Amino acid sequence: MGSDSLSIVDNRTGQKYEIPIVDGTIRAIDLRAIKKDKEDFGLLTYDPALLNTATAKSAITFLDGEKGILRYRGYPIEQLAEHSTFMETAYLLIFGQLPTTPQLEQWEWDISHHSLLHTNMQKLIESFRHSAHPMSVFIGAMSALGSLYPDARDASCVECRLLQAQRIIAKVPTIGAFTYRLNMGWPMNYPDDELGYVGNYLRMMFKMTEHKYVPNPVLERALNVLFILHADHEQNCSTSAMRFIGSSHADPYSSLAGAAAALYGPLHGGANEAVLLMLEQVGSVKNVPAYIDKVKKGEAKLMGFGHRVYRNFDPRGKIIKALAYDVFKEMGANPLLEIALELERIALSDEYFISRKLYPNVDFYSGLIYQAMKLPTNIFTVMFAIPRSVGWIAQWMEMMRDEDLKIVRPRQIYIGEAAREYVPIGSRKA
Ligand code: SDX
Repeated sequence: MGSDSLSIVDNRTGQKYEIPIVDGTIRAIDLRAIKKDKEDFGLLTYDPALLNTATAKSAITFLDGEKGILRYRGYPIEQLAEHSTFMETAYLLIFGQLPTTPQLEQWEWDISHHSLLHTNMQKLIESFRHSAHPMSVFIGAMSALGSLYPDARDASCVECRLLQAQRIIAKVPTIGAFTYRLNMGWPMNYPDDELGYVGNYLRMMFKMTEHKYVPNPVLERALNVLFILHADHEQNCSTSAMRFIGSSHADPYSSLAGAAAALYGPLHGGANEAVLLMLEQVGSVKNVPAYIDKVKKGEAKLMGFGHRVYRNFDPRGKIIKALAYDVFKEMGANPLLEIALELERIALSDEYFISRKLYPNVDFYSGLIYQAMKLPTNIFTVMFAIPRSVGWIAQWMEMMRDEDLKIVRPRQIYIGEAAREYVPIGSRKA
């Protein structure tokens, strides 16, 4: 076995270069030394969607796309989904270790006592049209939240970061519930410290005129599992947005608003909403073959299928599919389920999808559960943003501690015009 390095010969000059290999990577900046002459800037790498570029060192989440492995701080997602709660998993993601009982009690107390929103925030949310998409409200509210905490703008204040993290984790369910109540035209429900994180969220979402709202234990457990599964996923599009914006020392609220904006896209967190719209468009099992044909002709995508990293199966999808049956038992089966199952059955046996390694991802079944919980489709991505806020803030805190932290500023390949002289408007041709 040779040394951990690349020997590169530049055929333009015959020059030879030794590039060290560390952690299975080469540092792209080392390629800058490869020049065709003294004037040359040096080699860059071109990787437009960062398909093959590591942008961070992280100890938070490990995933193996070939083997369908996902671990938070080393713990398999299957074990956390079975034994943990979202609050415990949030502690694990932020601090790196599972909490002791006193640590968890203190953590839950801290979070529950930051769940109230400033009344200005309620006025802001209520200023949106009643039909505003909840993700537009969520993004706007998150950005506005930062204006209430000017201490968040001091990037050097280490102890301030945990306080911001607690505020964000505590307030995103309140923001999410308020956007739902706005859409429905119902009065806002304020947080109830007596209930756990997820139970409190269900109460803020669904409490009507009953004196005491008691969360349905099946739904509370299902939502704990869904929140655990959505909490982090290493350097996905929205987490990269969080890190890139945060690298300029923007406050975490503004960075998280940007991350939520990235999640909103239908290719990312917006897919769970797009899956339901797709299933409703297909309409019945008998229309499935025709839809599959449209997909294979490139006229439509099979939303909820495919993944940049998972080339086998998304472990979260498996857990969510099993969880769906628990919820359907409690709330009644979702008629769209049989369409989803038929789409999955065909896709898993059809060469078009197998050759492209397209398997159900985290978004394929989650929407069916939310719909069975009587949630409108347009709130589904907010249901993703709430738990993912923990991952975004954990990754931001890790980045702010990283001695490699520098403001993100990629290079480009210029393909525009060469230098040319200004032309007075009278001399220009159409
Ligand atoms: C999430 O990164 C993360 O970790 C994200 C996430 C997280 O937790 O943060 O896991 C959450 O975003 C899950 C993904 C949710 N998105 C969707 O379900 C939308 C539908 N899926 C796709 O748009 C797509 O699969 C992506 C965006 C998820 C991945 O796209 P890639 O890696 O850029 O793959 P690609 O577009 O290069 O596709 C390769 C081939 C292409 O065909 P050819 O051009 O080679 O003929 O597969 C095809 C694509 O057209 N393809 C699909 C498809 N996804 C890819 N064809 C039909 N339906 C699809 N869903």
